[in-house]
Formats: sequence, structure tokens, C-alpha cells
Amino acid sequence: MTGLYDSFQRPINYLRISVTDRCNLRCVYCMPDDGICQMSHGDILTYEEIYTIVQVAAELGITKVRLTGGEPLARLGLAELVQMLGQLDAIDDISLTTNGTLLSRYAPVLKRAGLKRVNISLDTLRPDRFKRITRGSYDVADVLGGIDGARSAGLSPVKINVVVMAGINDDEVLDFAGKTIGEEWHVRFIEFMPTAGVGYSPSRFVPVSEIQKRLEQLGELEPCLPHVGNGPARYFRFPGGRGTVGFINPVSEHFCFHCNRLRLTADGKLCPCLLSDDEVDLKQPLRSGVSSSELKQLIVTAVSSKPLRHHLPEGGLPEGRPMTQVGG
Ligand code: 5AD
Ligand code: SF4
Repeated sequence: MTGLYDSFQRPINYLRISVTDRCNLRCVYCMPDDGICQMSHGDILTYEEIYTIVQVAAELGITKVRLTGGEPLARLGLAELVQMLGQLDAIDDISLTTNGTLLSRYAPVLKRAGLKRVNISLDTLRPDRFKRITRGSYDVADVLGGIDGARSAGLSPVKINVVVMAGINDDEVLDFAGKTIGEEWHVRFIEFMPTAGVGYSPSRFVPVSEIQKRLEQLGELEPCLPHVGNGPARYFRFPGGRGTVGFINPVSEHFCFHCNRLRLTADGKLCPCLLSDDEVDLKQPLRSGVSSSELKQLIVTAVSSKPLRHHLPEGGLPEGRPMTQVGG
């Protein structure tokens, strides 16, 4: 077998890279009330260090990278990193997950640098609610402008991530789904996961099965075949719909058996699993001059410690990093 496999024979070909833990929003479900203890400048991997890690990871079998945050566009010069990573022949897909607020400004330069696609997190279409959820100085119009900017720049398909929370935005699932009928919106509904640092309440949880039941009012969803995307979402379309509806159910039906990913935090830790607190430090070894074969070995160690599955259904919660530091 060539490529990178974990101890359960899952092929690992996808690396999510958090380039900063900072964010220009403070979403209620992501950012702890009192903010996070921010990493200092010197703690954060430089673009050169990220490049070195991806180069070695690509030699092992990583072919796709996604840049995340915090908010990745809050870090200056992100397009430079995109361009650097684009020089690696083995990397055939570079994408970005962003809150969209700064995207209309950066979409053209990101596209020119080699970015392929973007996922935009947007949990409400209502201006007042947007302010309440994101606790920031941006408007929903900024994100809608970012969506348009991404489309015009050719960063497609633009996918919209909606975390569904009971009593917060679950009354908007029909509005979001309706967008996929008349317009080319690709909306993905994500189950609300308990994560470290924020006051999660099980009463906010809405299972995908419930969302699907509510969407029946709009018509019968047809599965999109073949399976699109390289992640855990399952995609559907309303009859005649121009866009798609996707569902990601990390909690009600864990998708770990198809997990193909690793995560790199902004301060250089490789995390084998989003929902466990294990990590392998790459920054210190890098700064003390490890060889590329030693770096490879550290990556292989992280991959081989990937757990079979997370343990949310049994109440196993990660306690370490909040979502702002692992990038979703
Ligand atoms: N549950 C589900 N999704 C979450 N995200 C952030 N926190 C959570 C959570 N607790 C999503 C963001 C973004 C992606 C990176 O992760 O909305 O779309
Ligand atoms: Fe920022 Fe995204 Fe977290 Fe909101 S969910 S605070 S946009 S990192």
C-alpha cells in the first residue's frame, strides 16, 4: 500500500491547517465568553514552517489542504501561503473555511494565488440575529458580499456551513434550504457539537433527522450521486433545485469510519482527531532543526495514534482546545 494509512487502514490524505487562533467575530458557540487566551506571535508557525510541514506531509500522502482559523483571513498575507502551497505538485486541492466577512476584499487575490474553493460559515440570514450570534462589528451583509465575491472570483462551489442550534437559529432551516432551490447555494447543515471552552447545552442540539423532517415541507430531497466532496457531508437536491443541501452529523451518526484527516494547529501541534485532546508537537522539533525524515516520523506517529472514533455519544468531551484553535 502506498500513501498514509492509520492503524485502522483508513487512508489519510487531507490536512486542515489552522493559520491563526484569532478571529474578527466572537460566535457564541465557538468563542468562550471571556475570549480565548491568544497565542503570541512567536508561538504561531510562520508560513515557511507551514510550507515545510506540508511538503513533508505531501511526500507521505497528503494531497488536499484546507486553511482554517480562528478566521484565516485575519492573518496577513494569506494569499502568499496559498501560493507557496500551490507550488507543491502533490497538493491538488487548496481550500479555505472562513466566516466570509473579509472575503469580498480577498477573493480575487486568493483565486490568483491558486485557491480552489471556499466554505463560508453563516448561521443566520437575519441581520439582528447575526449581530447577536457573532457578537462582533460585522453585518450579515458583509458575509453575503463575501459569498458574491467568492462566486465572482470563481472560487466555486461556494459552500455555506450552518450550525443548527435549537432556539437560536433552527427556525431558519427552511429559509436556508429554500435558497438552494432558486439559486446556486450549497448549504450544509451541521449538528451542534459539544466542544471545549463554551457552555454547550444538550437542549440546543438538533439531530440531522429532525432537520430533514422539517425540510420535507419544501419537497422530497433526492440524493446527489456520485458522492460529492471529500468530507463527511451527504448531499441532496430538491427537484429542479439549482444548489444542494448537505448534512453533517458528527453527533447522531459519527462518521469517523471514513475519517481521512489530520489537523495542524496554528502553534504547530498535529491533532489526530478533532474530538480528542491528543496532539504531537511539530514546532519545537522544527525550530531545533529536525531533518525531514524525523519530521515524517512525527507525522506518522500522529497518524498512527488516530482513534477509531470519537466518544461524544457516551459523553466523552474534549477538554483542551476550543474550536477557535482547531479550526472545525
Ligand atoms: N459544532 C458544530 N460546528 C461547529 N463549528 C464551530 N463550532 C462548532 C460546533 N460546536 C463550525 C463552524 C465552521 C466550521 C469550521 O466549524 O461554523 O463552519
Ligand atoms: Fe470566528 Fe468561526 Fe469561531 Fe465564529 S465560529 S468565532 S467566525 S472562528
